[in-house]
Formats: sequence, C-alpha cells, structure tokens
Amino acid sequence: MISFIGGTGPEGRGLALRFAIIGEQIFLGSRDPQRGVDSASDVRALLPKNYPDTSVMGGSNEDAAKMGDIVFIAVPYFAQEQTLNQLEPHLRGKVIVNVVAPLAFVKGSAQALPVAAGSAAEEARDLLPESHVVGAFHNLSAIDLLIPLRGLDCDVVVCGDDPDAKAKVMQLAESIKGVRAVNGGALVNSRYVEHLTSLLININRIYKAHSSIRITGI
Ligand SMILES: NC(=O)c1ccc[n+]([C@@H]2O[C@H](COP(=O)([O-])OP(=O)(O)OC[C@H]3O[C@@H](n4cnc5c(N)ncnc54)[C@H](OP(=O)(O)O)[C@@H]3O)[C@@H](O)[C@H]2O)c1
Repeated sequence: MISFIGGTGPEGRGLALRFAIIGEQIFLGSRDPQRGVDSASDVRALLPKNYPDTSVMGGSNEDAAKMGDIVFIAVPYFAQEQTLNQLEPHLRGKVIVNVVAPLAFVKGSAQALPVAAGSAAEEARDLLPESHVVGAFHNLSAIDLLIPLRGLDCDVVVCGDDPDAKAKVMQLAESIKGVRAVNGGALVNSRYVEHLTSLLININRIYKAHSSIRITGI
C-alpha cells in the first residue's frame, strides 16, 4: 500500500490519484481522520470510469504511517519535524518519499528556505534513522496531477542513498503518464531539486503556467 502523511493537500491527493489509476492501494492520512476519509472520497471521485477498481481509503496520519509500505511525506516544511517525530516508530524499515519543498512567500515571490540539515529530505533522514528516505516529485504541479489523464511531459529527479528504495520510487514516478524518472544520485542532491520548486513557482506566475523540468543530454 502507498500512503500519504498530509494526504489532504493537493500534492498528496494528486500523486495518490495517479497511483490509484495504476491500481495501487492508497491510504490518505490527516491530523483529522475524517478529513483523510473525505480526501479519499475526493480522489475516488476523480478516477476515470474505465479504470479498474482500486482501493483508496483515508484516516489518520498514524494509520497512514502504519499501513503504507511506501509512505509519502506531503506536509508543509514547517510541519515536517513535529510530524515525523510523532510518527517515527511506525515508519521504521519503510521507504519514505519526501516531496517537501522548504519555501516561503516574500512579497508574492517564492523563496527557498535554508535548512540546517541541507534539505528537507536530509532532515527527514535524520529524523527517521531506521527508514529509507528518498527525495522526489518536488517539481510536479499538483494542479496537473489532479487532472487524471493529463500527460505531464517532464522529468522527476529522484535522490536517495538506498539503491533499492530509489529504484522503487523511480518505477513509481514512471507510472505517471509523461514522466521520466532521472536518477539524481545521493540524498544530498535533493537540496538542488527542492530549491528548483521555488524557481518554478515564480516562473508559473510570470507565464501563468504550470512549469516543470526536463533534463537533456542523458
Ligand atoms: N502543491 C504543489 O504543487 C507542490 C508541488 C511540489 C511539492 N510540493 C510540496 O508537497 C508538500 C505538500 O504540498 P501541498 O500543496 O499539498 O501542501 P498543503 O496543502 O499546504 O499541506 C498538505 C497537508 O499538510 C497538513 N498540514 C498542514 N499544516 C500542518 C501542520 N502544522 N502539522 C501537520 N500537518 C499539517 C494538512 O493536512 P491536515 O490538516 O488534513 O492534517 C494539509 O492538507 C509541501 O511540502 C510542498 O512543498 C507541493
């Protein structure tokens, strides 16, 4: 099962929808279990009619942490430390996918926030020493993800120190229509990918678009 901590936000719901489409079992977590249930219902309503029945459930973040084999962290950066400290015992031994982009808006412009550990993904690794943390999906627009059959025409850079965990997440990324997974190397490289999110948000404002990235020459 693929589960989401913070599965009521657009990024968690968007990724959940794309993985439900390929038949994965999904659990959407929230601080309020009823919001998790409602979020699951919203995602089910977006599933195209001709796709196979799949299971999309929702509830608490704690249940999401317990039930997922692959667990996405999809909370705002300011909430990451407290959230992971609470859930750490349930996340041991699991593949953790960190999509968190630490940023703030200053005078309407997105700015990447400095992180003492280097990146949100490395901070998650430090908070979850017995989990296999991978950083990925930072540069995908939730708005595009939530349009179920839209091809995204972009790359997802996947960074991590555990080769097996990274391979699983790269395979998952490539299940999204139009996405190529790019091996971004070690988890330390996640900082560059996370920072790009702020640039993309600012480009989106200028072009009134949902931009993403393509790596060329590989
Ligand atoms: N949106 C995008 O297009 C996009 C793209 C790439 C990466 N990301 C990253 O993905 C993550 C999620 O993005 P999002 O736009 O879905 O975020 P969001 O809507 O701001 O937050 C997601 C969920 O996090 C939970 N949350 C909020 N404050 C919290 C707190 N103080 N403690 C614990 N949980 C809290 C909320 O769930 P409950 O209230 O139900 O608990 C909320 O629905 C972010 O880190 C963002 O940087 C987003």
